[in-house]
Amino acid sequence: MLSVSDGIKRILKRSLAGTGQIVLQNRLPFLQSKLRGIEELGLYLHIPFCRQICPYCPYNKELYHSEVAREYVDALKREIDLYSPLVGGTPVTSFYIGGGTPTTLLHRGLGEVLEHVYRAFNMQCEIHMESHPNDLSRENLASITSLGVKHLSIGVEALQDGHLETLRRPYTAQEVKNAVGRAVAAGFDCVNADFIFALPGQTFGEVEQAGSELAELGVDQVAAYPLFGFPYTRLGREGGHSNSGLLRRRRMLRLLERIFYGAGYERTSVWAFTKPEVPKYCSVTVPLYLGLGASAGSYLRDVFYLNTFNVSEYIGALHNGRLPIALSVELSERMQMAGWLYWRVYETRFTKSDFEQRFGRSFDAVYGKYFGPLSWLGLAQENGDEIVLSDEGTYWLHVLEDLFSIDYVGKLWGTSTQDPWPERVVL
Ligand SMILES: C[S@@+](CC[C@H](N)C(=O)[O-])C[C@H]1O[C@@H](n2cnc3c(N)ncnc32)[C@H](O)[C@@H]1O
Ligand code: SF4
Repeated sequence: MLSVSDGIKRILKRSLAGTGQIVLQNRLPFLQSKLRGIEELGLYLHIPFCRQICPYCPYNKELYHSEVAREYVDALKREIDLYSPLVGGTPVTSFYIGGGTPTTLLHRGLGEVLEHVYRAFNMQCEIHMESHPNDLSRENLASITSLGVKHLSIGVEALQDGHLETLRRPYTAQEVKNAVGRAVAAGFDCVNADFIFALPGQTFGEVEQAGSELAELGVDQVAAYPLFGFPYTRLGREGGHSNSGLLRRRRMLRLLERIFYGAGYERTSVWAFTKPEVPKYCSVTVPLYLGLGASAGSYLRDVFYLNTFNVSEYIGALHNGRLPIALSVELSERMQMAGWLYWRVYETRFTKSDFEQRFGRSFDAVYGKYFGPLSWLGLAQENGDEIVLSDEGTYWLHVLEDLFSIDYVGKLWGTSTQDPWPERVVL
């Protein structure tokens, strides 16, 4: 029998995306035609290695081994070479390196991969990269800067020893504060701190204290996520995430809003607070992007596809001269619109004219009927061409995100981590 939440999901999918099911299949899209006519692209590079595996982490990663890392660097270069003639001179206007932990490859091939990227593509942007606090010595920060990274994200996660212990993070609160201090002093255009709240047993006072300390440390942006219990992680399986209910999360988010607004930050996405004038540390929210590396996703207007998650299969495919694409789905116009809307709403503000420029259709004609009631409920505000979500609207978006994304990510990533080449995945 369909549960209430499955029923809501199906209705929302039908009305927003025009379909009750999204089916990904193991088909190779015809990339030559998919890449033709694209005016600009984002690039995502996935580094699937970590020095330890955190029990709550949903991302595709494995323990670092130097020989595998070396083969992975070679495979990345082969993948870049396969894409280079297809992408041609199309400007790449955003470049994000994520993981796993990209800094595991800092002195072991990352520079080589970046040189290859800059030779192969028409790069018109700076580099955004994720990092682990234990990799941020002064010398490493100098190496990161010399690679051209201007926007650095740090997985801080918590600022109290007890909570760092719960998350099995391999550092103390003082050590991570020192690492953040060094990064802030290193002259990046933007330093982002990732912070997880609603941890088991965490008090409101502790969230308040950690939020204030992050602002005092001088980071340019804070991305504050509640602890999600992804079903296929150790934490999710053991039911060890706080699952503390939406009201507790909401109160904690309110506390964080008060602290960051008070310290002069502005909301730039459902989870991020950024200092004004600082270029936002963006991730995969650029409209069209190409993903490189094991588990990287690509979104090229009417197709979304995913590389195999399995690192040795990824290396093997490229060794045999094949693109490592495992799953793809062709997107109807209605699905593209829903995807566009999802990411723009995630950024908490967008203009209707952007939608019209992208799809050649009036925003009001397609989605107007949904936004009227949202404004009436105080969840969104319309300022002429611009639609802005209120803090309350942002909170409800988080509830929806809980309903959809966590479930989608759980199914898609959960299957892909078990099976390198799944036949199909139905969302
Ligand atoms: C790829 S990691 C960051 C870089 C680096 N690997 C590290 O751990 O420091 C991306 C971020 O996602 C967030 N994250 C991971 N798992 C999460 C979960 N279950 N719930 C909430 N946030 C999570 C964390 O804030 C984490 O820093
Ligand atoms: S949180 Fe970061 S270090 Fe921990 S397993 Fe995930 S990617 Fe690796």
